[in-house]
Parts: sequence; C-alpha cells; structure tokens
Amino acid sequence: MKILFLDQSGKLGGAELCLADIAQPFQSTSLVGVFTEGTFPEYLRQVDIPVKVLADQPLQVQKDSGLLAGLNNLNRLIPLVTQVAKLSRHYDLIYANTQKALVVGALASILSRRPLVYHLHDIVSPDHFSPLNRRIITTLANRAALVIANSQASRDAFIQAGGQAERVHVVYNGFSLKTYSNCADAREQLRPGLLAEPTSSTFLVGQFSRLSPWKGQHVLIEALQYCPENVIAVLVGDALFGEQDYVQQLHQQIQTLNLEHRVKFLGFRSDIPQLMATCDLVAHTSIAPEPFGRVIVEAMLCGTPVVAAAAGGAMELIDHGQTGWLTPPGDAKKLAEIIKTCQGEASQSQRMVQKAQTLAQERFNLDATNLKIAQLLQGIANRSVTAKI
Ligand code: UDP
Ligand code: GLC
Repeated sequence: MKILFLDQSGKLGGAELCLADIAQPFQSTSLVGVFTEGTFPEYLRQVDIPVKVLADQPLQVQKDSGLLAGLNNLNRLIPLVTQVAKLSRHYDLIYANTQKALVVGALASILSRRPLVYHLHDIVSPDHFSPLNRRIITTLANRAALVIANSQASRDAFIQAGGQAERVHVVYNGFSLKTYSNCADAREQLRPGLLAEPTSSTFLVGQFSRLSPWKGQHVLIEALQYCPENVIAVLVGDALFGEQDYVQQLHQQIQTLNLEHRVKFLGFRSDIPQLMATCDLVAHTSIAPEPFGRVIVEAMLCGTPVVAAAAGGAMELIDHGQTGWLTPPGDAKKLAEIIKTCQGEASQSQRMVQKAQTLAQERFNLDATNLKIAQLLQGIANRSVTAKI
C-alpha cells in the first residue's frame, strides 16, 4: 500500500513520534510530507523513512494557534494543496496526522480523488479549540473515509463536537517494547548527573512533557513545597511551540518558592526510557484533558511508578491504586500526597509497577497497533478500488 502521510509540524511531539512508528512498516512505498523543516523531518531521515518538506518557504505553523492561522494566507494554502494533490496521485491514500494537515489533505483529496484518513490526536473540546476550529475539524473529518482516534476520550469529544461516530476507530499508540526494557544500568549512570547532592534518600520525580501551560509543570513545582526536602523534580522537555512566557513564569515560581535547589530543567532529550528508569516517580500534570498521554504508558513500560491527572485519555491508561495513581487536574496538594505515598510505600509501589508494566506490554505493543492500522487502511484502499471499478 502506498500512503502519503501529512503532518504540519517540524517539531518532534507525541503525534509525530506516533506517526513515525506507523509509517515505519510502509517506508519502502510511502512518503511523509511535512509543512516545515525541523527536528521531526530530521528524525524521519535518521530512521530511514522517506520525507519531503512540502512548503517552499517555511510556514509559520503553530500547533496550538488558530487552525487556519498558519494557513491564513491563500497564497500559501493554494500552492500547498495543489502540490499535495499532485503528489497524492502517486499514492493510494492520504493520511493526515494533524489538524492543518487535515485542512490541506481534505482539499487535496477532493482534487486527486484519493481517500482521506485522519489520525485524531486531539480532544476536540472547548478546553483545546475554539468553536470555529471545532467546526472546521469535524466538517473536514466527516469527509474522511476513516478517522483513527488515539483514545476513547478523543473519540467521544469528536462525536460530541459533530463528528460522525461510524467513521471513528480507537487505536491506542503502540510502543516498541524492547526500547523500554533495556534500562537496567541507567539509574546508576544518569542519577549522579541529575542531582546536585545525590544521596540514597533523594526521591526523584520526573515530568516529561513539552513546556506548555496546559501540560501543567507549574502544578508539580507547587506540589514540591508540600513535600519533604529530599523530593527533587526534573522537567524534561522543551517549549516546542514558543511558550517562552510560560518558561519565564516557571522560573519565577521556582524562585518565589525558594525551590532552585530542587528543580532542574533538562530540555529536550532523546533518552527518555533511560531517564524514566532513573526516576522514582513520573508525574503527568496536564490541567486540560490529555488526549492520550504517551509519557504515562512509557513510564509504565519502564517500570517506574506513575501519577497522572485524572482526565481524558489518562483515565483509560491508569487504574487508580492498581497500576498507578490519578489526581484531580491542577490539584497540587493531592499530587503532593501521592508523591509522599509513593515515597513511603515502596513495596506497594513495586507491586503496582509490576502489574502496570505487564498490562502496558499487552495493551500498547507496537506490533499489534501496526497490524490494526494496516487492516483498517487496507479496508479503505480496497473500498476505493471497488468504487473505481
Ligand atoms: N519526549 C521526548 N523528549 C523530551 C520530552 C518528551 O522525546 O524531552 C517524548 C515523550 O517521550 C513522548 C512524547 O515526547 O513520547 C510526548 O508525547 P505525549 O503524548 O506525552 O504528549 P504531547 O506532547 O504529544 O502532547
Ligand atoms: C498528541 C496528544 C497526546 C498524545 C499524542 C499521540 O500530541 O496531545 O496526548 O499522546 O498526540 O497520540
């Protein structure tokens, strides 16, 4: 099957890491078209997935900005749609992985008469999108032959916003299990570099997300003040979409609370499994519903206890008290309580971790995900061939 994958982002976020895993089995016949140069196309080249940067001049595309903001200029949108329509004639289907890719892909699919698939990585709710953007997403997605939702929560919000239920299939992100199973030495190697004064009693909490207000790094910082002095936090991730004001705000908050010696920013890292294995707890702190939450599953696969904000996809990933903990989004005091529980109840945490790891290996195996996606796409390709006969 020949697939033209489309993604608006030059940055390596969760949706892009997911797409790279999905495109891998199709690498000999397919192409990933991205709208701008950056770490995502670089990553695809490293893993030998063919990639083409489609815009002749970089588009000012911000993932969190208005849907049409980066494409507002028809001078840019029309050539991009024309280019994608032309290119897609060499492929069996167009697979849009982000909202602006959906806009371009949907218009191109009308011109080239290629079926459209939309991978929905977002919760199309007022927390994340304006009414106009919700309308645009659902109207265009309702033209797709198939919508793949990354969680039940994303599916439900899509339908509530006007998306057609019969088009949507939920497929969770899959993970290459071996990537997360070889981190036994990481703790010994990485921990000394992460802590200013490493002691055996230091309890290291890791937050692994791009720095963005809705990812709620400030909640973890606030929680630290209610925790013992030996609880230290590392923030792993960068402000991928220009959230410099928020980064400033975080530094200010740390200073105001006198927590400079207890918080470390590590920036964007490529050794996530090793870093997670080094932490005593992974904290997911999003204050708006998380569509899926790759970092939650990654923590489980690494065998590190995880606490997540109880909303959106996180509710499908964690069974509270069995495979991890859930806390109300934005509630720093409750988060601190869980941190202290995890710190104090090592044997309970260990039992939960084992259960979580086994379940995560069963539920989020990349081979199973890719098989499911291949079956769904084959169904669409077959339908399209039959329609043409
Ligand atoms: N990640 C990474 N390096 C970092 C921070 C995060 O590679 O420094 C990865 C992380 O391991 C996860 C993804 O980025 O696979 C983030 O995905 P998630 O679904 O958690 O959130 P998103 O940012 O896509 O909303
Ligand atoms: C998006 C969502 C995130 C999800 C990822 C992969 O980036 O924000 O929750 O895990 O896509 O589907």
